[in-house]
This record gives sequence, C-alpha cells and structure tokens, in this order.
Amino acid sequence: MEIAVITAKGFKIKVTGFETPDIRRVMEIEEESFLDGDAGLYLELYEEWPEGFLIAENEGKVIGFVVLVLTLDGDGRIFSLAVDPKYRGKGVGKTLLKAAFNTLRKRKIAYVWLEVRANNLVAQRLYRSMGFIEVGFIPYYYKDGEGAIRMWKVM
Ligand SMILES: CC(C)(COP(=O)(O)OP(=O)(O)OC[C@H]1O[C@@H](n2cnc3c(N)ncnc32)[C@H](O)[C@@H]1OP(=O)(O)O)[C@@H](O)C(=O)NCCC(=O)NCCS
Repeated sequence: MEIAVITAKGFKIKVTGFETPDIRRVMEIEEESFLDGDAGLYLELYEEWPEGFLIAENEGKVIGFVVLVLTLDGDGRIFSLAVDPKYRGKGVGKTLLKAAFNTLRKRKIAYVWLEVRANNLVAQRLYRSMGFIEVGFIPYYYKDGEGAIRMWKVM
C-alpha cells in the first residue's frame, strides 16, 4: 500500500507501509515525542502484523507513524501514533489515523481501542474528532505513574 495524500491542511505526504530501515527515523520521532517504546518491540509488532505499521513521508523523509495491534478479542488497538514535532498541526496525524482505519476495515475489524496519557489533551482532542469516545480511566498506567484514558471507536 502506498498512497499520495494532500492532508486537510494542504500538506503533501505519502502514506505507505513501514519497512525495517525506517526504524531509525521511527525511534527518533518516538524519542522526540516522549513515548516509552523500544526498537525491538516495534520490530516485533511489525513482524506480527506488517500491514498494521504505517508511516507518513514528506519528500522521502519519514515524518510520522502509526502502529496497530490486534487484541486477544480480535479488536484493533492503536499501540502508537506520533508525528515529528516539526511537522505537527498539518493534518499528518489525522491522515495516519484514517489510513489505520482503512487497514482495520479491510480486516473487517469492528472496534478499535487505545490508551492515551491523561495529560495529553492534544491527542485526546484528535481522537475525539476522529470518533473515539472515552470509556475509562486506568490509574498508574504509565511507567512514570501517570494514568491513562481508555478510548474506543466503532469502525
Ligand atoms: C498527537 C499527534 C500525533 C497529532 O499529530 P498532528 O499531525 O499534529 O495532528 P493533526 O495535524 O492531524 O491535527 C489533528 C488535531 O490535533 C489537534 N492538534 C494538533 N496540533 C495541535 C496543537 N498544537 N495544539 C492543539 N491541538 C492540536 C487539533 O485538534 C487537530 O484538529 P484540527 O486540525 O481539526 O484542529 C502529535 O501531536 C504527536 O505526535 N504527539 C506526540 C505523541 C502522542 O501524543 N501520540 C499519541 C499518543 S496515544
């Protein structure tokens, strides 16, 4: 899968499948986004479900990614979503989420879940605007003790 997209904010990107050499940029964006993942885990998730790992590129450079996993119940879960801080607010996050929804629909997955830091209001707003609703709060979910808001969407 590879699609050229102009985001709702008029920014030109390509959304395509992750490939192993992209891991370096994915980890850079991860670190700049203060997420907790490690490269080994990302590569493992990619091997488990390659179509669930999508990247956004601008002029040949990886500027964002989304990683989907399957839950034991057969639902989808957004494991991770991040955009290079220099490219935020241009519609890249929203476009990656839409591409992830297409992947889930192709697999006929009915529900998608995610957890987001309680203080991450930007991401929560994005998820709400994409049809997610808040279904719970998990105290001490993250390593640093912060709680998570659990969100859910019908595909
Ligand atoms: C959350 C994140 C992926 C959004 O990516 P993005 O490319 O900036 O998102 P978009 O440009 O598609 O913006 C989508 C919405 O996010 C919100 N948003 C984006 N940037 C914002 C900002 N600087 N301030 C407030 N809201 C903002 C807006 O609601 C926007 O919707 P609108 O365009 O209708 O106003 C990005 O901020 C990021 O990588 N954050 C760090 C990692 C993270 O928090 N990931 C989610 C963890 S679960």
